[in-house]
Amino acid sequence: MFIPIEKSKDKTENYEIMLKSLEHFLYKGDTFITTLSNLSAFLNYFLEDINWVGFYLYDGVKLTLGPFQGLPACTEIKLGVGVCGSSAKERITSVVKDVHSFPGHITCDANSSSEIVVPIVKENKLLGVLDIDSPIINRFDDIDKLYLEKVINKLVDIVR
Ligand code: SME
Repeated sequence: MFIPIEKSKDKTENYEIMLKSLEHFLYKGDTFITTLSNLSAFLNYFLEDINWVGFYLYDGVKLTLGPFQGLPACTEIKLGVGVCGSSAKERITSVVKDVHSFPGHITCDANSSSEIVVPIVKENKLLGVLDIDSPIINRFDDIDKLYLEKVINKLVDIVR
């Protein structure tokens, strides 16, 4: 079902290829967990220099660990705590250049140095967050933010 697609070394071009292939890959008939499982693998395939990519899901009180690729991670995050909890609470994308200088950052993988977190909100309801970690300081920029928000918008479109 997922024939390895040729990636590009050009960041924007790679994201464009990724978005185009995503069109043929997100199915309205799949459950949320199924979609997130494949989406974490999909992102892990396309993104360079990352050590963790996955989802935390909001249960109405806190964030709990969802489908991911990478080392085992903490299972619960309170709203407002760490990068994920802050992003979820504020409902804005967080780009953290150096996680070691982020107050309250939760270390799951000691290799993580920078991070991007994109909240997943549908019809004003918080569903969770996409969390991506990198071992490289300052790995994520406005291009990552732009395209990862587009990915999450496409995800939100197909969520039942
Ligand atoms: N670093 C995150 C916790 C999740 S792990 O990176 C997978 C945070 O502070 O929110």
